[in-house]
Amino acid sequence: MTDQLPASNPGSPVRAGIRNAGRGTVILTAAVAAVGGLLFGYDTSVISGAMLFLRSDFHLSSAQLEFAVGIALAGALVGSAVAGYSTDRWGRRTVLLGTGIGFGLFSVFSGLSWGLVSFSVARFFVGACIGVASLVTPLYLAEMSPARIRGALVSLNQLAITVGIVVAYFVDYALAAGRDWRWMFITAVFPAIILVAGMLVLPESPRWLARKGDRERALRGFYRLGRGDEAEAELREVEQALQEEEEGFLGLFRSGFRMAVLVGVGLAILQQISGINTIIYYSPEILRISGYPSAKAAILAAAVIGVANVLVTVLSIFLVDRLGRRFLLLSGTAGMTAALALIGYAFYRQAAGAVVFYEMIGYVVFFGIGLGPVMWLLISEIYPTKIRGKAMSLATLSVWGANWLVAGTFLSLIHAAGPAGTFWIFGFICILAFVFCLVFVPETKGKTLEAIEAHWRGLGHDSTA
Ligand code: BGC
Repeated sequence: MTDQLPASNPGSPVRAGIRNAGRGTVILTAAVAAVGGLLFGYDTSVISGAMLFLRSDFHLSSAQLEFAVGIALAGALVGSAVAGYSTDRWGRRTVLLGTGIGFGLFSVFSGLSWGLVSFSVARFFVGACIGVASLVTPLYLAEMSPARIRGALVSLNQLAITVGIVVAYFVDYALAAGRDWRWMFITAVFPAIILVAGMLVLPESPRWLARKGDRERALRGFYRLGRGDEAEAELREVEQALQEEEEGFLGLFRSGFRMAVLVGVGLAILQQISGINTIIYYSPEILRISGYPSAKAAILAAAVIGVANVLVTVLSIFLVDRLGRRFLLLSGTAGMTAALALIGYAFYRQAAGAVVFYEMIGYVVFFGIGLGPVMWLLISEIYPTKIRGKAMSLATLSVWGANWLVAGTFLSLIHAAGPAGTFWIFGFICILAFVFCLVFVPETKGKTLEAIEAHWRGLGHDSTA
């Protein structure tokens, strides 16, 4: 890696070599940081396969089991609340490094726990790491990425989340035969090691360094990330955007920032209350209600839905910097609405379980094209650098709060409104999400983070990179 600033002849082979090395660093950075997303997906899903064994080995009542399952979401709430402050203070890289260590340690502790209390403590801290990773991974990716491919690189985070969910399904499935629930949790130590090792060698975000006034390291960082001739200009743009006073929490609601904050929180809540995790966490249960013949067939069908989620995320990564965020959001929420209406109708007409299965795949496909990846992308790119950490905390806190609410009330909702009514309610929420995106979400494709900042300030500045 270059420690010296390169010579300034733009056409030189040295410069071209540095650009290529920089591209390699960007890709490596994105791949390693995305392991944070993989751990997020894995650790939120792995519990589903371990649940039954925990209940019998620890002699848990239903209420105790519910507590043991939900405690990681409570940890994630706390983690996302502190992540913004921590990452603004200690840097993106340091916090991701610490999160990797936490994931590793507490995954092992969860696997070694000897009762409800030790298990819940360990899972609470795993949850806290999930909360931190859910904020810092996309943030770090957004700050490192060149504007023209930022959508794809940040969305690697969502791809990693979906891969983590599927890997958890398969690990659970493979270990269930031997009742080996301890290894279901301990397995997370392997990606955690990759995250820690990667973060030891990867660079700090140049934008964060600039914010801390370390101009030289920030510039070196941009060169290292292959910005070549644009490094100076990019740094100047960042510095210009940083000129105003640091903002406190209340500063988030000042005009110029307020709208960005509302858009982020709105998208975060809508992503969750559109019901995605009823499918991700409960699809075997839903399929069983729809008349699926056996629990085993329902679990396998759930795994197929998980794989569809991964594949469609790849497609979204390919499209997001070409078609733009708004197009994916609008077509995605429109498709989700249609799929949910059909799922509700299938339950209403008591159609065959296979019909519900295909419609659930349809719903996940439209989520994976739009609201899934694009929500995380937008909340990492729409905020001005000086409030990014705090504003992202508020948005991720909203994600985890809404996630908790939906996951915790889904079965009661089915009971109260019936399956048809429940999915129609989610369908109605997707209509609201469509309108929200149509009216409030700006297009950020190809714009530098500073140009996006200027948009909120109403300067009409529209530089592209
Ligand atoms: C959501 C998670 C969800 C996952 C499914 C993410 O964007 O935030 O709550 O489980 O997508 O792919």
